[in-house]
Amino acid sequence: MKKDFLKILDFNAEELNEIIDLGIELKSQNKKGIKHHLLEGKTLGLIFEKSSTRTRVSFEVGMYQLGGYPMFLSSNDMQLGRGESIQDTARVLARYVDGIMIRSFEQSKVELLAEYADIPVINGLTNEAHPCQIMADLMTVKEYKGDLKGLKAAFIGDGNNVCNSYAVAALKLGMEFVLSCPEGYEPHPAVLDFAKGKTNFKIVRKPEEAAKNADVVITDVWTSMGQELEQKKRLNDFSGYLVDEKLLALAKPGCIVQHCLPAHKGEEISEESFEKHAIEIFDEAENRLHVQKAIMVKFMK
Ligand code: CP
Ligand code: NVA
Repeated sequence: MKKDFLKILDFNAEELNEIIDLGIELKSQNKKGIKHHLLEGKTLGLIFEKSSTRTRVSFEVGMYQLGGYPMFLSSNDMQLGRGESIQDTARVLARYVDGIMIRSFEQSKVELLAEYADIPVINGLTNEAHPCQIMADLMTVKEYKGDLKGLKAAFIGDGNNVCNSYAVAALKLGMEFVLSCPEGYEPHPAVLDFAKGKTNFKIVRKPEEAAKNADVVITDVWTSMGQELEQKKRLNDFSGYLVDEKLLALAKPGCIVQHCLPAHKGEEISEESFEKHAIEIFDEAENRLHVQKAIMVKFMK
């Protein structure tokens, strides 16, 4: 296993399955009230350059449940926010804490932090990837559907960070991945490169074609953090990419719906479909806690 958890592309199917299965095990122990202080005495620094509800709270609670200590570090209050370099920040923090989780803009910045910090670094979202989210998503699919192999995942909307990580993980784990997005909103070139030639990967324009016979339908906001200035254009470009009951009627019976949240109901997903699938969507949110505990244990123990 690599030192850091930065992107799904860095891991093979066996490693990804190990994380998901440990997440499922830790969840079941947690539900039985079994304590597992596997990171007793360890500290995780949590750097946030973007807002967060789920990532911050699930990492903080997860670290406490593992017997460790989480330290929230808002970049605005750090010298990092005043121009101290990521390389120096990495080398300083590595002398104090046992691991760093970072939410940032460019993936390259997170990769640089990991290069300069000789402690594990976990990616809590960049413009290009959201690997912790996707581990939680696939853990949830496994809970609902059993084996992931052969399942069809349909992603409706933007080829963004969530889509990038989902596509790579789904393909590595033997799923079919079909993205329906408007022209110009395709995934990152590295993802397209990875998917090239794979018969279980497709990009289509019509949401109906993607949703047909899907076991899982996934969507996410059309305007991600940092893209606020493009909002008007995006609203226009994505019209017709709404996940609603009409679209979901084309999917397999028992199809589950996923949304990483926060959701813009009435834009990418109808209020009705969101509420009909709320149990799955909030199981997905809960699983951030369990799977990230697995990630912390795997990388920091
Ligand atoms: N899904 C997700 O990462 O949520 P937050 O932005 O609230 O952390
Ligand atoms: N694609 C969204 C995910 C939020 C968790 C964003 O980057 O804002």
